[in-house]
Amino acid sequence: MNKSKNRCIACNCKTQQINDFGKMPLANGFIDRKNFKDEYFFNLKTSVCLECKLFQLNQQPEAKLMFNSTYPFYSSLSKNMKSHFSNFFQDIYKKHLINFPNSFSIEIGCNDGIFLENFTQNNLSHLGIEPSANVAEIAESKSINLTKKFIDKKLSNDIIQKYGQAHLIYAANVICHIQDINLLLSCINILLHDEGLFIFEDPYIGNVIKNNLFDQIYDEHVFLFSLISVKNILKNYNLEIIDCEETITHGGSMRYTIAKSGKYKVKNNVKNGILKENSLGLNNIETYLKFNENCKLFKKNFINLLENLKKNKKITIGYAATSKSTTILNYCNIDQNLISYIVDSTIIKQGKYSPGMHIPIVSDKEFRKENSDYCVLFAYNHMNEILTKEKNNNSKSKWINLFPQPMILND
Ligand code: TMP
Repeated sequence: MNKSKNRCIACNCKTQQINDFGKMPLANGFIDRKNFKDEYFFNLKTSVCLECKLFQLNQQPEAKLMFNSTYPFYSSLSKNMKSHFSNFFQDIYKKHLINFPNSFSIEIGCNDGIFLENFTQNNLSHLGIEPSANVAEIAESKSINLTKKFIDKKLSNDIIQKYGQAHLIYAANVICHIQDINLLLSCINILLHDEGLFIFEDPYIGNVIKNNLFDQIYDEHVFLFSLISVKNILKNYNLEIIDCEETITHGGSMRYTIAKSGKYKVKNNVKNGILKENSLGLNNIETYLKFNENCKLFKKNFINLLENLKKNKKITIGYAATSKSTTILNYCNIDQNLISYIVDSTIIKQGKYSPGMHIPIVSDKEFRKENSDYCVLFAYNHMNEILTKEKNNNSKSKWINLFPQPMILND
């Protein structure tokens, strides 16, 4: 990480430290027992820029440590995410792409092709940029056109030479992963057609603050954006937000629609969204300091809850070994003593251990064996999908919901 001390990554102005979550492993660093002794750790701290109000990590591990051929996150595992992306495709096609007979679209971080498969199915020119080789190979198997590189200026110039500028540049849960936001925006300026749209959606700091979702803070999420901070950062790049929309993905995200300045009318919901952020206090450091107090209270409450269950001889397990759960478990220092195991449907996570705390990860079929009393729902963002799926299994296990403060759901 090359952030200079107490300076904003985006604008280099002074920052105020907010959270200190202590020693943290890679959120997606699911690990074999034989590698425990070589596990990588860094200090997970956050700050807010006093000028542009960007919420950011103080330190982020090297990108290659996080996004490589063992990246264990496959977007297409969730049915709801599949319909989320297909609905967005229908929408953006009708509203925008249809106006360009030879449209060209780019997705930055296309994962296993969950969004771009809509383009192959409709014979639309596209390119995915995906540096994690394992997920990229799945996308390629769906005939998606892609490059397995990290985005930079050389790649951007090569792309426009070959395909021309893009009418749509899209990224879902990706821009908040890219530390060099200034390089990224320079690349967008190279890649974006004058009438093109750059649309990205990422976990939203508004939801994080409102619902105490501090588990959105982990190595990959170097930024948690707001309309206020994005508006400020875009100023230097002749780009502006012309539309925005809150979405339910990842526990609450914001979709930002950006265009070259003055090209499109700015919709009223941008102004209204900023007013809402001001009333939530996102422009005020005190709000973030209060959030830090709520995180500390969470830690105390969660440990108390799990220790009480243990004292009463109850068995507690976890549902879904999410990247987010790494922050919760390591910050609260919870290991196998309090959570016996975590079930997850991702095959490459099964048989491994959770990062840092080394809780065993097993198949989600174990959940149906009825040998647990309480189950912590780490994938609260897939709550409806998981609860619907598990409703008929007659498990006696009671759900523990985590946010804003840990609570047993059906006691
Ligand atoms: P996410 O919160 O980052 O989307 O990760 C979701 C995790 O939850 C991922 O490891 C897969 C897992 N999962 C299940 O185990 N069962 C399910 O039904 C769903 C939807 C997700």
